[in-house]
Amino acid sequence: MSPQADAVPMTRSGRRRRDGGADFTPAFGFSAITSGRHQRRPVALVTGATSGIGLAVARDLARDHNMILMARTLKDLEELAAALEEESGAAVLVCPVDLTDDATVARMTSRIQLDRLDVLVHCAGVEAPGRIDALAPARWREVLDLDLVSVAHLTSLLLPALRRSKGLTVFINSGAGLRTSAGHALYCAAKAGLKALADALREEERGQVRVTTIYPGRVDTPMQERLQAVHAAQRRAEGATAPAYRAADHMTPQSVASAVRLAVSTTMDAVVEDLAIRPSAML
Ligand SMILES: NC(=O)c1ccc[n+]([C@@H]2O[C@H](COP(=O)([O-])OP(=O)(O)OC[C@H]3O[C@@H](n4cnc5c(N)ncnc54)[C@H](OP(=O)(O)O)[C@@H]3O)[C@@H](O)[C@H]2O)c1
Repeated sequence: MSPQADAVPMTRSGRRRRDGGADFTPAFGFSAITSGRHQRRPVALVTGATSGIGLAVARDLARDHNMILMARTLKDLEELAAALEEESGAAVLVCPVDLTDDATVARMTSRIQLDRLDVLVHCAGVEAPGRIDALAPARWREVLDLDLVSVAHLTSLLLPALRRSKGLTVFINSGAGLRTSAGHALYCAAKAGLKALADALREEERGQVRVTTIYPGRVDTPMQERLQAVHAAQRRAEGATAPAYRAADHMTPQSVASAVRLAVSTTMDAVVEDLAIRPSAML
């Protein structure tokens, strides 16, 4: 369990009360972002909101939604919340939480007391390079826990609020969810599982909750840089040369945010079910 997440269940920017639990009131959660001048905006929750794709999605949706932001690092969340409130006038609630900490995630979502949720975007995730003979069981469990199990858990907790607003759930998957490759068994397994989760959810909730999966190719984010640093180190260890990371070889996170926007802006009588997006110059 993350002690920080437990000590600071949630903080809304502009009202930076450190909450040990005693002075917490439900009004601090959902009602705080749906009252007064903010009440007409739909509500969107983005996980992994402080970096890469999630950050771009949060910035884009904050233009016309009130926001709930999740990631582990409180400082990053607070800085982002302040920027979004300034840029777009959105009301923002931040939830510092390790999404693999089931008990804290459950406690936090219940404390928000979400009446409705219009958009849920699952962006948090971790890369997992490595050949099968080099991956320990603990590593399999750690990655699947974040990239798959925590997504299913959070979705299940938020389904009542999503149903009340006939909301949309967006899963940020990957080309790796559709195609496997050597050296990526774990990540591909997690993303193939995520595809199955989204497809099953779409059928179970048809008519109540709309479900979109987005399959991005390479995106210029800290995750992609870390991944390519691992590959470069491997190549150098084998005596080969490794090309330097070039942001220009990738899509921008904003391109993926545009794909999310397409799904969000599709009218209620239709749903973008699956959308693959890749760098236009990629073979
Ligand atoms: N980059 C690509 O090329 C690419 C391509 C296809 C698909 N994707 C997918 O897109 C998603 C986002 O990737 P990205 O490249 O934007 O990653 P990123 O830049 O590394 O951002 C990851 C985000 O997730 C949060 N996070 C990580 N572990 C967490 C945990 N245990 N609990 C809560 N939050 C956590 C991080 O914040 P904290 O560290 O503060 O928690 C951060 O906000 C992932 O699912 C990835 O698989 C990426």
